Amino acid sequence: MISLAENKERIALLTSGGDASGMNAAIRAVTRYSIYNNYEVIGFYEGYKGLINNNFDILNLNSVSGIIDRGGTILYSARSEEFKTEDGQKKAIENLKKNNVEKLIVIGGDGTFRGAHDLHKKGIKAIGIPATIDNDIAGTDYSIGFDTALNVIIDIMSKIRDTASSHDRLFVIEVMGRQSGVIAVNAGVASAADYILIPEVDFDLVKIANEIRNHRKGKRHTLVIVAEGVGKANDIASSIKLLAGHEVRVSVLGHIQRGGSPSAMDRILAARLGQKAVDALMDGKSDAMVGYQGKEIKIIDFEYIFKYKRKIDKNLYDLAFILSL
Ligand code: F6P
Repeated sequence: MISLAENKERIALLTSGGDASGMNAAIRAVTRYSIYNNYEVIGFYEGYKGLINNNFDILNLNSVSGIIDRGGTILYSARSEEFKTEDGQKKAIENLKKNNVEKLIVIGGDGTFRGAHDLHKKGIKAIGIPATIDNDIAGTDYSIGFDTALNVIIDIMSKIRDTASSHDRLFVIEVMGRQSGVIAVNAGVASAADYILIPEVDFDLVKIANEIRNHRKGKRHTLVIVAEGVGKANDIASSIKLLAGHEVRVSVLGHIQRGGSPSAMDRILAARLGQKAVDALMDGKSDAMVGYQGKEIKIIDFEYIFKYKRKIDKNLYDLAFILSL
């Protein structure tokens, strides 16, 4: 066991769930702002798995030096099934207590916050920082990693458009977003996609195929973005090919979307959310997330986040279609 620095309270930190670019910037912000406020920071590795296995290191100013521009997470991540069990949570609580930790900051998405909620019920003060490329968390306009992922996607979309135009081709491009079309809608607007297929809005593949067969909006390229929550891009491409009689190519962007150096926006968001998370703990808050609303950073109860699903911006969705005509 690493002994507690004299007269210092500890804040523990972990990253969990799918990694998102900017998590490191958030780790840096939490660590440095906590140290500035005279706390000692310990980082658990591989999310809740690290709590169960008591796998951690003290984070000092040096540990988080030179990481602001790195994708991924220096604390590593995992989706721990064991932590969902009573036994797993018991081990986690024992380890936290053994290490004199009563305050915890978790960086991740919905699943990560559910874990923090469970720990709160068992007496740990827990605050969440939203970080998921899906940007599907209610109560925050943006989650860390979303902006970087969007920039990765639009860069690739431009490249696809080049080759699509050259060959007079139609492309179906699958983007991430397990149950949510937020990435697809925003990427669609930013890359002038012709069609955006998302789980939240019904679509008519026959109608789309007819349009493609008849005029393709007068373009030599047709870009169809599909959110992974809708189904496999390959299946959709086969149906369009069959119905429209037009050659189709498929690009599944996959985990490329989660990597890379974070955008300026994600770094600044990480700094602000990190500061607020530490402030919230210092104010005795728990069972809540720090979120970006308008221009302000607010504290939103987990209860609200679990109750309300983040909606897509329907106006933006409709606008994407109008602007691509
Ligand atoms: O939750 C973030 C996310 O990137 C989703 O968009 C995607 O469906 C999922 O993670 C992929 O998870 P994994 O990396 O475990 O395959």
